[in-house]
Amino acid sequence: MSLRIGDDAPNFQVETTEGKIDFHEWLGDSWGILYSHPADYTPVCTTELGRTAQLKPEFDKRNTKVLAVSVDDLESHQGWIKDINETQNTVVNFPIIADPERKVAHLYDMIHEKASATATVRSVFFIGPDKKIKASLTYPASTGRNFAEILRVIDSLQLTARFSVATPADWVQGQDVVIAPAIKDEDIPAKFPKGHKVIKPYLRTTPQPE
Ligand code: BEZ
Repeated sequence: MSLRIGDDAPNFQVETTEGKIDFHEWLGDSWGILYSHPADYTPVCTTELGRTAQLKPEFDKRNTKVLAVSVDDLESHQGWIKDINETQNTVVNFPIIADPERKVAHLYDMIHEKASATATVRSVFFIGPDKKIKASLTYPASTGRNFAEILRVIDSLQLTARFSVATPADWVQGQDVVIAPAIKDEDIPAKFPKGHKVIKPYLRTTPQPE
């Protein structure tokens, strides 16, 4: 069954390129990204894993741990990592799950049979410190993911978890945000002391609260 926003992120114990991991224990109090790769030694995945390694400081800044899964074994992953490091000019600095039996792939419904019976699609699960699914993305194998968008979603999830706001179309850090409809007009000044604009009664904006 597919996982939906608000569901518990299923736990698992796996072998990874950085040793054995109990997923929930490994996450600790961090946010998490669990994302799938159709298979080792594939071109788009090679660029995605390289990009993830380059962006490690950005994930760290957001207290977010990244865990990749690919449906091949550890030996294959270790050989592939050498290629990723060489071709993407980086050092893979996060774990990749060995999932030759597709346990994690099935647990997170990452195999969509109409796309491929054996390879995963490109899933991304955003997991909160409470170990619940906060968001997910699904792309076909032929479309590499946009890592600026992944970071932007983390920013939005973390901001909206702390304040009664929502982030509008194409929002990025530092831009105005939308005040949640549940907030009464009279409560806005105390909650959002940086000021606010009423564009329509249902569309009220305020500078990003932090
Ligand atoms: C890739 O990662 O490059 C890829 C994997 C499966 C199908 C197409 C592309």
